[in-house]
Amino acid sequence: MNQKSFFDDSEVPMNLLRQRAYNLRWAMQPADVIVLTAADPDFPVAPAIREALQDYISGGIFSYGPAEGLPEFRQACAKVTTQRKGYACTAHQILAVDSAAAGMMHIARLTIQPGDEAIVFDPVDFLFKASVEAAGGRVKLLPVDPDTGIFDFEKLPELLTPRTKLLGVCNPINPVGRILTREELELLGNFAVENNLWILNDEIWSDIIFSGQTFISLPSISSEIAARTFTVHGFSKTFGLAGLRVGFVICPTPEAFESLTVVSAARTTMTGVSTLSQVAATAAYEHGWDWAEQFVRHLESLRDLGVQKFSQLEGVSVLAPQGTYVLFPNFTAWNLPMEQVCDTLLKKYKVATVPGAARWFGPGAEGHLRVVFSTSREIFEEGLNRVIHGLTEIRKSTC
Ligand SMILES: Cc1ncc(COP(=O)(O)O)c(C=O)c1O
Repeated sequence: MNQKSFFDDSEVPMNLLRQRAYNLRWAMQPADVIVLTAADPDFPVAPAIREALQDYISGGIFSYGPAEGLPEFRQACAKVTTQRKGYACTAHQILAVDSAAAGMMHIARLTIQPGDEAIVFDPVDFLFKASVEAAGGRVKLLPVDPDTGIFDFEKLPELLTPRTKLLGVCNPINPVGRILTREELELLGNFAVENNLWILNDEIWSDIIFSGQTFISLPSISSEIAARTFTVHGFSKTFGLAGLRVGFVICPTPEAFESLTVVSAARTTMTGVSTLSQVAATAAYEHGWDWAEQFVRHLESLRDLGVQKFSQLEGVSVLAPQGTYVLFPNFTAWNLPMEQVCDTLLKKYKVATVPGAARWFGPGAEGHLRVVFSTSREIFEEGLNRVIHGLTEIRKSTC
């Protein structure tokens, strides 16, 4: 008899998702809507995470943790980084942060003064722009062709001004789903070294990598690049811990670690990660990899389904993601206003998606739709059918 998988259709706890999954997801939509919006899994977390939480809770002590993070958490992060990312990382470099998003904001606050500039990809997750702007800075956009994932590197020198202080790197790229090559990483990293820029290197997606692909981590390229790179990680994507708000930053030097810790305000206790969240994240890193591996295999089969369905549509192109669980089909040829289209998909066709709008991903995202597939096959198939049927009908009605 086949063993039951963690990712069978029956494993999605719809009642709980409808109560607990916020941030554009199930708890925020009517009961007849299928949700393919914000990127976190619809499946319960790995059993080892639940057991670790239950054990910790049963002790009944919830005292303050250390500002930098629990020693076992920092140790687990350093060990996993060393084993999986191709460079030696020590626990002293790890700062626990209450989400990758918070880590990004601390890095921007540390490296940017009001009026300074940062170069970020376009399209890319809105958090890059939001972090830079929270620090009083401005973004300059490095175009990435969303249909091929290829960068317009020629533009890079044009974007540089005396105020440029930071280069944002998202690898793999949300929403394009592409992994950067060694050559691209060298080019970006060396550009930062030559121009004295810090690098905000977001690798939150780097453990969702599909077969035949190799992920290369930016700090592994050279010690000169590593010395300017703050790498951000989180547990929302691979391990489903978004609501526990936990992540970490790998700092390049002891001085950088010290400055980032001060900027984060963790030592004042004004910020900091719940110890419970760190316990969950530590269990994920120590015991969750078999589960994560199965998750990636499940996602890969859904990626193939999504790519196949979208590429059957006339005039629509879609890049098969090499990593991540987001699809980003291009509907430019259909000439539709995507914000309105998403609204109609939601209200009339009962499926929630994210428009490729500047406010989410930058102006380079226009004409696209972002569809997340971290759910069961059954839900994804039904959601996809609704998206494709809805879009086809909307197109007919506007022709
Ligand atoms: C590229 C990228 N960075 C950071 C985040 C934020 O992750 P967290 O939930 O840990 O704040 C996301 C979430 O969508 C993301 O896609």
